[in-house]
Amino acid sequence: MDLPYTESYRIKMVEEIYQSTPSEREQWIEEKEFNLFNLESQKVFIDLLTDSGTGAMSDKQWSEMMTGDESYAGSRSFHQLKETVQKLTGFRHLLPTHQGRAAENVLFSALVKEGHIVPGNSHFDTTKGHIEFRKAHAVDCTIDEAFDSQIIHPFKGNIDLSKLEKAYQEHGKEKIPFTLITVTCNTSGGQPVSIENIREVKALSDHYQIPVFFDGARFAENAYFIKEREVEFADWSIKAIVREMFSYGDGMTMSAKKDGLVNIGGFIALNSEELYKECGNFGIIYEGYLSYGGLAGRDLAALAQGLHEATEYPYLKARIGQIEYLGNQLLAYGIPIQQPIGGHAIFIDALRFLPHVPREEFPAQTLGIELYKEAGIRGVEIGTILADRDPETRENRYPKLELLRLAIPRRTYLQSHMDYIAVALKNIFDRRELIKTGYEITWESPILRHFTVKLKKKKK
Ligand code: F0G
Repeated sequence: MDLPYTESYRIKMVEEIYQSTPSEREQWIEEKEFNLFNLESQKVFIDLLTDSGTGAMSDKQWSEMMTGDESYAGSRSFHQLKETVQKLTGFRHLLPTHQGRAAENVLFSALVKEGHIVPGNSHFDTTKGHIEFRKAHAVDCTIDEAFDSQIIHPFKGNIDLSKLEKAYQEHGKEKIPFTLITVTCNTSGGQPVSIENIREVKALSDHYQIPVFFDGARFAENAYFIKEREVEFADWSIKAIVREMFSYGDGMTMSAKKDGLVNIGGFIALNSEELYKECGNFGIIYEGYLSYGGLAGRDLAALAQGLHEATEYPYLKARIGQIEYLGNQLLAYGIPIQQPIGGHAIFIDALRFLPHVPREEFPAQTLGIELYKEAGIRGVEIGTILADRDPETRENRYPKLELLRLAIPRRTYLQSHMDYIAVALKNIFDRRELIKTGYEITWESPILRHFTVKLKKKKK
C-alpha cells in the first residue's frame, strides 16, 4: 500500500477555538449584514476566508523573529532575505513591501499608465484594482477550460496564446507595459501554469518586445504541480523548478503571506537596475526605506526562512495533500467543485450547488452564509460581488464561475477539521432544494466592494 499524505511537522503550541451554536451564528451574521468579512474571528470556528497571512510559522521562523536585525538601513536581515530571493528566483534586485498589493502599487506606479492594457491569466482582485485605479485595463487571457469547473486539465491557470497574441496585435508594446502571469492562478481556482506555457508566453512576448512579470504569491505550490504533472520536471527539486519558472520573467510581485509562510510581508524582485531605481522612489514614499519596505527586520528574517521551508518537497506534499483530502471527500458526496483540485483552496461551484438561487441574488455568497450558519465555517465568495461593477458602465459583471472559496491556511488545521468541513457541506447539499432565495445589496463601496458590502435577505 502507498503511505498516505501526512504532515511534515508536529505541533508545539496550540490555540483554542470557540465552537458556537447555530442560533448564535444566525444572530451574528444578521447583525453583520450578511458580510462574512464583518464577523469577529472569535465568532468563527474554522476560518477559511483566506490562506493569506493565516498560516503557522515554524520554530525556526520564530527563532529568526528573535534574532532579526532592526537597523533602519543595511539590516543583516534584509541581506539575508535578498540572498534567499536571489538564489531562489534568480532576480537580482529586491524591494521589500508590507504585502502583495503594496508591491503591485509600487511596481504599477512605475509601469502602468492611463489607457494601458495588462494581459494575463485571471488577475487577482487587488491586482485588477491597482490596474483599473490607474485607468488601465486588465485583459484576461486564461484558457477557456478554466471557466468550466468540470473540465479536467492539468494546468487550468495557463494563458491562451491566441488570446494573448490578439491583445498584442491590437495594442502593441506602446500600450502594453507587461504581461502578468499569476502562479498559481487564484481566481480560476488555485490552478497552476505549466513551464511549457510560461516558455511559450515568454517567446511570444519577446517577439512583441513586451516584458513578462509574475505574480508569485503561490509560486511554490505552482512548482509542486509542475513536478507532479509535467513529465520533464518529475525528477527536479522544487527549488530548481522555481528557478526555471522565474528565469522566463523580468521580475515579480510577491505576497509573502502565502508561500512566504509569514503573517505579513511582500516584495518586488527585478532584473532591471533602472526599473529597480524607479520603483525604489515609489517604494520609499509608500512603504519605507529600500531595505525594509514597511516590514520589521524580524519579519524579513522570518520570511527568508519561510521561503526556504515553502520550497521543500515534504512540506508541499503535505500542504497540497490536505487540500486534495478535503476535495476528494466532497467529490465523493457529489458536491460540485472546481476540478482538478487546486493548490490552496477548494472552490465550490455555487451555480451547480444552488441552481435555484438566481444569479442576481449571489448564489456563492448565499452558500457562504449557509455554511457559516451550519457549522461556523467562514469561506469567501469569488463571484459576482467580488467581480464588482464595470468601471465604465457601472453594471454588475457576471463572471463565468460563481464560486465559494474555502482557502486552507498553511500548517494550521488538522485532518479532523477537514472531515468536519466535508460533513457540514454535505448537510447543506442534502437540503439544497429548500434554498431558493439569496441576498440583495443594501450598500456598496465604489471599488473592491466585497470587503464592506452590506446585504439583506431577498424576500420570496
Ligand atoms: N496576488 C494574488 C494572486 C493574491 O492571491 C493576493 C492576495 C494578492 C496578489 C495580494 O496580496 O493580500 O498580500 O496584498 N490574496 C489574498 C486571498 C487576499 O485571500 O486570496 P496581499
